[in-house]
Amino acid sequence: MGSYASQHCVIAIDGPAASGKSSVARKLARQLGFVYVNSGAIYRAITWHFLQTKIRPEESERIAESLDSAVLTCVVREGEARIVVDDVDPALHLRDDRVNESVSRVSKLPRVREIVSQRLHDCAEGRDVVIEGRDIGSVVFPDTPYKFYIDASPEVRLQRRAAQGERDEITVRDRDDVSRAVSPLVKAKDAHVIDTSYVTVEQVVTEIITRLEQVGLPISDVQITDRALGE
Ligand code: DC
Repeated sequence: MGSYASQHCVIAIDGPAASGKSSVARKLARQLGFVYVNSGAIYRAITWHFLQTKIRPEESERIAESLDSAVLTCVVREGEARIVVDDVDPALHLRDDRVNESVSRVSKLPRVREIVSQRLHDCAEGRDVVIEGRDIGSVVFPDTPYKFYIDASPEVRLQRRAAQGERDEITVRDRDDVSRAVSPLVKAKDAHVIDTSYVTVEQVVTEIITRLEQVGLPISDVQITDRALGE
């Protein structure tokens, strides 16, 4: 833990689907000993929960009511935050085709965004975190000085998803994520932008660490480790 320990640190990594932000954010968190938080996974967990309860993404009022009675908890295990819904950890289902198809529609609902934002603040309470998402630097933690926007060309992003063997209409999701009324995907104006199309995860992490030092995070004081910490 560094000399900033009294003030916990949020590193925001935003960007579109398949831009490489998960690999980068996870590796960065490991190296710094911070907790890795994937906010998309929380939207996915909520989407999965509604699909289980047979509520359709269009039924916004039922979703809001059901969300108010569901117990959504953020737990940290092995250096990563996970969301548990009514005592069930849906981790194995988060990338199901039907979750991919519905998650943008669920995540544009204001009540859903409000709840996820609260859970992200819970996760960051008393911990140093790397959080990836779409609106982390712009809306959820606008005051953090550590903001990054990770991008890659549409062709490269499509190839990456195909290589992962997933059926994921990222062009449709991008359009929905950018055009929704509440917290759309935008580059925070003070975010450092990195194009990952033709560089390795390690190169991106190195660029981020260099930038963090430039903007005042005392990296040399931070315990750099390959072991996931944070519980
Ligand atoms: O990062 P991902 O592709 O797993 O995210 C899944 C969806 O969740 C994405 O299409 C939009 C939504 N999302 C969001 O609206 N805001 C975030 N901070 C993270 C994800």
